[in-house]
Amino acid sequence: MRKVHPEIAAFLGIPIILLLKRMNSKIVEKRDVEQVTGLDVLGIIPNLNMFDSTQEQGVKNRDIFFRRKDSRQKLKSRKNELIIKNDIKSQVSESYRDIRRNLSFFSRGRRLKSIAVTSSTAGEGKSVILVNLALSMSQKGKKVIIVDADLRKPMQHQFFEISNFTGLSDILRERINFTDGLKETGIDGLQLITAGKKPTHPLTLLNSNSMKEVLIKAEKQADLVLIDTPPIGLVRDAAILTDKVDGTILVTASRETSNHFLKNAYNNLNKYHANILGVILNKYKHQQ
Ligand SMILES: Nc1ncnc2c1ncn2[C@@H]1O[C@H](COP(=O)(O)OP(=O)(O)OP(=O)(O)O)[C@@H](O)[C@H]1O
Ligand SMILES: [Mg+2]
Repeated sequence: MRKVHPEIAAFLGIPIILLLKRMNSKIVEKRDVEQVTGLDVLGIIPNLNMFDSTQEQGVKNRDIFFRRKDSRQKLKSRKNELIIKNDIKSQVSESYRDIRRNLSFFSRGRRLKSIAVTSSTAGEGKSVILVNLALSMSQKGKKVIIVDADLRKPMQHQFFEISNFTGLSDILRERINFTDGLKETGIDGLQLITAGKKPTHPLTLLNSNSMKEVLIKAEKQADLVLIDTPPIGLVRDAAILTDKVDGTILVTASRETSNHFLKNAYNNLNKYHANILGVILNKYKHQQ
């Protein structure tokens, strides 16, 4: 093999290292989101691990959030993640109120009845943010319907310990009607359409006219419809829904999501002409 001159290797190596570094760098602060996407940050949700155990509020939040290693975990319950319901006064609840306020500010003059929530990759906090935002809206007296359109990894039913035996996929396949698919959550003003049975072709179902009709019906019955979706960087489901909703919120996890992934998600949404309302920066830790 021919030897490469060390100076040429260094010359070629540096840009590659810089490129890799850029691709690996993570979103940390609000300004990173703004730099990468140019979008508004609708709100910042703290990382619940950050609370120091000596801080009473922190302990409270952390217990609510992570008390999942108990017997209820076997039932696949995520009831304890309904922070807003359990702890109205916490710092986390205040973050949701900020998002609520910012949303009404950004939507001024524009119709905003259906909002999809997505993120670039898995586990950034879409589902938990969506459910707490729904709670926050219903506490404000709004009638809210959550539609779990993550037909691949449904979660919303777990927050309310509701059966997912039938739901959205069953409505779309005309196995049940809309009214039968609309379930009470036990919280005033908040109803839920669970995802239903796992379909073989989720994209086809979400891309159908029936999906449009479900959203139109939900919008007629509620002040706001919030739609949970899978990550846009991994599958096209959220992209397919962009023309059926009034706006889309992008969730990103501080110190987890790479700039590169967030940028891709942003580009993907733009490709589908999504009305991107802004970004929620989740799992944020204040720098010590
Ligand atoms: N602010 C936060 N602080 C700490 N942990 C969090 C926070 N938000 C979410 N999590 C945790 O991150 C994990 C993923 O949350 P969630 O299921 O809401 O993400 P998701 O984006 O909907 O995931 P998926 O792409 O799999 O649908 C959960 O274990 C949740 O408890
Ligand atoms: Mg989810």
